[in-house]
Amino acid sequence: MITQETIQKIIDTARIEEVVGDFVTLKKAGSNYKGLSPFSNEKTPSFMVSPAKQIFKDFSSNKGGSVVTFLMEHEQFTYPEALRFLAKKYNIEIVETGQSDEEKAKRDTRESLFLVNQFGNEYFQDQLWENETGRSIGLSYFRERGFSDETIKEFQLGYSQDGYEVFTNEALGKGYKLEFLSGVGLTKVDGNRKLDRFRGRVMFPILSHTGRVLGFGGRILKKDSKAAKYLNSPESEIYHKSKILYGIYHAKQAIARADECFLVEGYTDVISLHQAGIKNVVASSGTALTVDQILLIKRYTRNITLLYDGDPAGIKASLRGIDLILEQGMNVQTVLFPDGDDPDSFAQKNSLKELEDFLKEEKKNFLRFKAGLLLDEAQNDPLAKAKAAREMVQSIALIPDELERTAYVQETARILDMAERILFSELGQMRSTKIEKEAQQRKRAEKGLQEQENMRVVEQVEKGPDSSIIHVQERALSSLLLNHGDKEYYFGEEEVDFELEPEKEATLPKESICEYILAELEEDKLGFEHPQLQSILQHFLKVFNDEDRIAKAEEFLRGENPERMHMVVDLIADEPELHDWKRKKIYPPNREAHLRDFTMETVLRFKEKKTGQLIAEIQKEFKNGTSTNPQALAMAKDLTELKIKINKRLNRIL
Ligand code: CTP
Ligand code: MN
Repeated sequence: MITQETIQKIIDTARIEEVVGDFVTLKKAGSNYKGLSPFSNEKTPSFMVSPAKQIFKDFSSNKGGSVVTFLMEHEQFTYPEALRFLAKKYNIEIVETGQSDEEKAKRDTRESLFLVNQFGNEYFQDQLWENETGRSIGLSYFRERGFSDETIKEFQLGYSQDGYEVFTNEALGKGYKLEFLSGVGLTKVDGNRKLDRFRGRVMFPILSHTGRVLGFGGRILKKDSKAAKYLNSPESEIYHKSKILYGIYHAKQAIARADECFLVEGYTDVISLHQAGIKNVVASSGTALTVDQILLIKRYTRNITLLYDGDPAGIKASLRGIDLILEQGMNVQTVLFPDGDDPDSFAQKNSLKELEDFLKEEKKNFLRFKAGLLLDEAQNDPLAKAKAAREMVQSIALIPDELERTAYVQETARILDMAERILFSELGQMRSTKIEKEAQQRKRAEKGLQEQENMRVVEQVEKGPDSSIIHVQERALSSLLLNHGDKEYYFGEEEVDFELEPEKEATLPKESICEYILAELEEDKLGFEHPQLQSILQHFLKVFNDEDRIAKAEEFLRGENPERMHMVVDLIADEPELHDWKRKKIYPPNREAHLRDFTMETVLRFKEKKTGQLIAEIQKEFKNGTSTNPQALAMAKDLTELKIKINKRLNRIL
């Protein structure tokens, strides 16, 4: 386990605005930053980061939390992975205690898998540059393909010897465990036999966006072989091919800068374009494009240009890609390469200028691309035109944004020389079918949830109508604790008008809002019903009693209790300063001035509701004849008196 001190150091050092800024383009907005949500398709920014509070809140997906949670949500890191990422970024040394729990084992496994891959990567490169066969076969192959030595080094290309267990023996000799060699698939284990997966192939390491080796692709060199041209690492704990784009590590900055990502099919397409000077390029590497891959690109840009072969397979892949990309709310353009060429061969044959001109010339938005495909030979055939219209509108119907859909329908009308009205009616039908289908799916998924919700409502009704109102008071009290717990006021009964008698203020005993609330609740032995709010209250109580201090909001943001943390984020993000974001309520401009009164009022209202609830319960038990407490009636009487007293105090404050 990472020690508490290390965690504290990491959390104290990390700046959420810097970390989030690596993934999301943020703009300053008052004392906060805002940007487009990385968790949903949106046009107007509703994702905010507060440097002062060190939290983020995404109002479109309702996610929120600390810098650690952000990494967990955005990068799918585990809690310790997120801490390690931050430690690395900020050069903090990680101190660990106590080994051997399950999580540690899993993390160790992942780390070991990465280490084995890293070793393989270095070994294959070493073979390419230093070994005689490696040089004469592997290196000369790459050079013949037109890759410069610089490029070969930059992409860390390598060579695997054509033997049965050359690599495996080397790795075992260096102390790498067979378990991990087989875990990443570099070694195939069959009983007692061990076999190198990659034999006599040139090697392309597949790097994560942070540059770690996830897996390999290996290209065969013999022309006549029946074996697959490319062999890839199998899926493993660290290699999920549907979530990876080849070249992302080398391309991500260029993609963000160009605000465009070229998407190609193969390893060599990426490398040749990069070498030619077009660096914002990645490949889906032999898998059909997936949503995860598109979302990976979306971190850097919303504009994708597909560069595919002009053969039927390339066209089919383009069409499929277009729809997937549109569905994610992104823009898509296409370039088809002349028959017989792929981006690699084209880049090798032409100068950068010719390449750039070609891309500029041939780049078509998806509508022109589809229209071109469908109308090529049948310029004036009305049936072909109708079919083209339908297929174009079908893609448009996938776009989440209505304004964009409208613009694209208008363009379709221009391209096909058809009445907009007809196309809009087609779009309307497709949208309603789509929405209906989605609603049905959602309904099915939510049915389970709905049943739970029904149960909750039933329970709530049984508890009495005050329950939800009590939650409002519980929220308000928790918000006061979290946002203003340390502010001190005079909470006594003596009525003082500080504006008339300012000198009096200094003579009165003050206490913190936290102390006041805790004491008031303690006095009547009251807690909160809502489990998360109760847990927050408990923490304040514990810290106050045991450590004689007031708990801080960030103590809840460490990810140990995600539900409670989300609640805390909501409560601190909801404060006036951040409130423009929700454009809901308007708070009095100077809320601080009213904090004392607001605190007292909230405590009293909470008590009033709570006593009301207790009285109602006792009365109910009496009516049903289920009461077993002989003192219940006396209690109800006391409570009623208390309620009257509270109401009097409330009237005095208001
Ligand atoms: N691919 C694969 N397995 C195969 C064939 C292809 O994983 N058996 C993937 C590789 O990532 C490859 C991409 O699909 O780069 C495109 O395949 P292809 O067009 O056949 O190869 P090229 O990239 O053109 O490779 P080369 O120029 O070396 O022939
Ligand atoms: Mn090729």
